[in-house]
Amino acid sequence: MFEDLVKFIRDLYQTNSFIPLHEPQFLGKEKEYLLDVIDSTFVSSVGKSVDTFEDRISNFTGIKYATATVNCTSAIHLSLLLAGVKEEDEVITQSFNFIAGANAISYCRADPVFVDIDRDSLTMSPIKLENFLKTNYEIREDGRCWNRVTNKRLVACLPMNSYGFPTDINGLKKICDDFHIKLIEDSAESLGSFCKSRHTGSESILSTLSFNGNKIITTGGGGMILTNDKNLHNKAKHLSTTAKLPHRWEFNHDEIGFNFRMPNLNAALGLAQLEMIEDFIISKRDIALKYQEWGIKNNLVFIKEQEGSKSNYWLNCLMTEDRHERDSLLEYTNSNNVMTRPSWTPLHLLGMYEKNFKSDLKDTVWVHERLINLPSSPILELL
Ligand SMILES: Cc1ncc(COP(=O)(O)O)c(C=O)c1O
Repeated sequence: MFEDLVKFIRDLYQTNSFIPLHEPQFLGKEKEYLLDVIDSTFVSSVGKSVDTFEDRISNFTGIKYATATVNCTSAIHLSLLLAGVKEEDEVITQSFNFIAGANAISYCRADPVFVDIDRDSLTMSPIKLENFLKTNYEIREDGRCWNRVTNKRLVACLPMNSYGFPTDINGLKKICDDFHIKLIEDSAESLGSFCKSRHTGSESILSTLSFNGNKIITTGGGGMILTNDKNLHNKAKHLSTTAKLPHRWEFNHDEIGFNFRMPNLNAALGLAQLEMIEDFIISKRDIALKYQEWGIKNNLVFIKEQEGSKSNYWLNCLMTEDRHERDSLLEYTNSNNVMTRPSWTPLHLLGMYEKNFKSDLKDTVWVHERLINLPSSPILELL
């Protein structure tokens, strides 16, 4: 199977050279827009491209307001603060996750609490979340949700659309409403993914995107906070731009803010990339289908989008038999110049988070022992 898989991927990408997991494609107006910004001299955090990029992302996602940031980690950090997360609070998130969300919770001096995913969707399980909350949490007289074991306040839930697959956000939303906790969605990997025809992030009070070089579109480095709430949006803009009060020359700030605004230069790159996104998605969905068809012929399981959702198939996920097969395949493919990767080490197994409060995480560990991400860059020649 190993040899056949490498052959299949080489045929797909039509090359005998190194094949990366996900490389950016600059086939549109990137250079033109970047030169325009350089000529304008507005290369930093003030400039038309940032505002336009925010408007275009808002149009594309259908989420009313967008605030561009230096990366997604800062966007998550700010979103948590905007949701009212404070020192000693708890925030539920996935252990099956890139480390940014848990770290952002820690930057607020709050504690990440880990809940399990479902094997089929790779996203937070509403049933497991509900059982975990019912067993360990209660609404007290102050109307807030409290952990009966740690005696800490649970303020928010931060699910993530793993590898582009939309989480069951309606299921999660109902539970979060029942337990009076705010829903913030990490959509870093899911620009262009939809749940019941609504873009990921639409149902949450705040959601975030990443434009890191490995994402479906890139600004070099960059992120975005999305919300349908005007008040939250105004606060996000204010806090991400050092909380400076508008004035023609005075420097006054009304609270401790952050220097998180995306530079104009990065936004220019994003504008050109966004013009290509529909082509990227068509190609990535086509590649996913080809992997799945090959999987059926070879008796191998690939993760597919759930009914009622549409994934951007950011990274394709092959499930191996067990950890031994996973490691052997990683060794074989990487030695043969085809880049593959396992999923992130579950966060509850990392030293700094091993003592955190958590649910049973058996599917997180099960998936981690088996999952391999395969090369998934779009191939525009396929169109
Ligand atoms: C799920 C998830 N959240 C957050 C991030 C952080 O994004 P950034 O690198 O833009 O800070 C990433 C990856 O980069 C991610 O995959």
